[in-house]
Amino acid sequence: MATPNAPHSPGKGRLLVVIAAIAIAAGAGIAALLVNIFEHKQEAKTPFFQVTALNDTIDDPAVWGQNFPLQYDRYKMTTDMERTRFGGSEGVPHSPTEADPRTVVARSKLELDPRLKTMWAGYSFAADYREKRGHAYMLEDQVFTERQRVAKQPGTCLNCHASLYPTYMKLGNGDITKGFEAINHMPYADARKQVTHPISCVDCHDAKTMNLRISRPAFIEGIRALKASQGVKDYDVNRDASRQEMRTYVCAQCHVTYYFRGADKRLTFPWPKGLKLDQIVASENEDNVVEWTHKETGAPMMKARHPEFETWSQGIHARSGVACADCHMPYVREGAMKISDHNVRSPLLNVNASCQGCHRWSETEMKSRVEEIQTRFVETRNVAMNALVDLIGDLKAAKDAGATDEELAAARKLQRDAGFMIDFLVSENSMGFHADQYSVKSFAEAINMCREGQLALRRDVKTRAVNYAPQPSATPVTSH
Ligand code: HEC
Ligand code: HEC
Ligand code: HEC
Ligand code: HEC
Ligand code: HEC
Repeated sequence: MATPNAPHSPGKGRLLVVIAAIAIAAGAGIAALLVNIFEHKQEAKTPFFQVTALNDTIDDPAVWGQNFPLQYDRYKMTTDMERTRFGGSEGVPHSPTEADPRTVVARSKLELDPRLKTMWAGYSFAADYREKRGHAYMLEDQVFTERQRVAKQPGTCLNCHASLYPTYMKLGNGDITKGFEAINHMPYADARKQVTHPISCVDCHDAKTMNLRISRPAFIEGIRALKASQGVKDYDVNRDASRQEMRTYVCAQCHVTYYFRGADKRLTFPWPKGLKLDQIVASENEDNVVEWTHKETGAPMMKARHPEFETWSQGIHARSGVACADCHMPYVREGAMKISDHNVRSPLLNVNASCQGCHRWSETEMKSRVEEIQTRFVETRNVAMNALVDLIGDLKAAKDAGATDEELAAARKLQRDAGFMIDFLVSENSMGFHADQYSVKSFAEAINMCREGQLALRRDVKTRAVNYAPQPSATPVTSH
């Protein structure tokens, strides 16, 4: 195992952009030769021909692609769907209807594991929850999910599903936070009219310098609160983050858990106490987050979602300074050039570029190390899902027998907290890889809480006889 390569490691290789203003008269217009010097491995200089003058109002990636065709070509490949053993993506045919014209959709996770419907009973996620797929699909998959039909969704949803920076600038008169506030509380259909593309170049790059830039106010606010909890005052991510941090933070604008706060539906990341699961649960409890009432038990619930950033931050790679982009956008060779792979996808589809720059093991060995971690994770998850379903079953039995809210309170609280923890681990998309021991430890805590909830019922429900169902036998999950 070698140490990380120099250009990947934090602190080094600040992005230098030198614009050599070599004006070349070309017809009526003027095309300038833009020379970017990126400190990549061997290539000290990577020249780009500026065909078009870019600015921050351009959300069409094809226009940016005129200047950067190699990145654009790879970006377009996020339409590809390819499975890995536990990840990647897979399309299944869908008969188009007027309400949902898609001919291919991702697999339904609810069908793969029906216990999820019990976990989310009474919430829109119990109606439709699918595997994710490439960035190219983010807008259409959000527009056409069943969740839009069973619940009224706010404009806030678009924050992570569309090219939005130009819209935020426009609606906020140059202030993205004002633009963000304008979109959040709009009905989804109205907000949808304000955007055209899925995530585009302008959402990650500054048009003038091509430097990475944070374009989402919710992340600017979330990371400021997190830094404040670590004693860093007035943190400004676009001013204070290192280049290596930005290679994670651009992704962490979306691959994080969240909730909507208040009537104006402000997108909020529960990080004021830290990124660990118990700290996140404590933050949401302090803010009294209640996203739905569980249909079978009456417990006031909160929902976790794709916490890749939070989970990664607890793992060995974060600790070693390895960023999301190191594995998910590795350097790839295109002819004489070396570029960042803008086909953002599972690293297991390109182990050579994603892992072997740092690890000297064969591709087969790397893959099987990952799959072993993921298999153990899935087996533990299975135990945790069963424990949660058992608690829900007991709570329902007690409620049906007429137990009072007071008698049910302790068990409901445990369902709320353990349910969030299990949801958090199940919604994380690396199947344990981003922080393996941390994930399994968190499952263990949640399993214990579910069993404590069952014990609480047997202790607290004194006034009537409850017919607790025999516990279902463990459901083996073989695929996923
Ligand atoms: C050390 C390498 C590494 C780092 C760093 C890393 N990941 Fe991953 N990530 C993986 C691996 C390996 C998988 C599992 C892929 C699979 O099962 O096919 C994965 C899975 C994922 C998935 C699901 C992909 C799929 O195709 O199923 C997402 C989304 C993801 N990571 C996002 C992130 C984000 C966001 C960050 C940074 C906060 C990050 N990752 C950091 C290696 C990494
Ligand atoms: C903070 C960013 C963020 C916000 C806000 C957000 N999403 Fe997502 N969404 C993601 C990410 C990241 C994925 C891919 C990872 C995954 O599916 O777990 C995703 C996946 C999805 C998917 C495909 C997988 C699935 O769940 O079936 C749908 C549909 C979806 N989101 C709908 C919505 C809706 C509706 C809203 C508003 C209530 C919303 N999203 C708000 C980040 C976000
Ligand atoms: C604007 C929000 C946003 C940003 C920024 C973002 N993602 Fe995503 N990402 C999504 C959504 C939404 C999906 C799911 C799309 C769908 O299922 O239709 C997704 C899907 C993915 C997938 C799954 C691809 C597959 O083939 O299954 C990976 C891997 C991924 N993102 C990694 C990253 C990494 C790494 C970064 C940073 C370089 C990043 N994302 C930045 C919102 C975002
Ligand atoms: C999800 C965020 C994201 C999006 C969207 C995105 N990029 Fe990038 N891009 C990155 C990251 C991360 C790097 C690596 C930057 C670094 O290391 O400083 C990068 C690097 C680059 C570079 C520098 C050379 C290289 O390949 O490393 C260029 C040029 C570039 N991107 C062009 C584009 C273009 C054109 C688009 C739109 C078609 C685009 N990017 C969309 C995240 C993104
Ligand atoms: C930029 C360098 C870098 C990249 C890229 C990278 N790793 Fe690592 N990886 C490390 C470091 C550093 C450690 C910590 C162990 C050490 O220092 O020897 C580590 C540890 C690991 C471990 C041991 C985990 C544990 O809990 O002990 C596994 C497994 C692993 N990496 C797999 C991968 C896979 C798979 C990929 C590609 C998807 C990958 N790594 C990409 C640097 C990297």
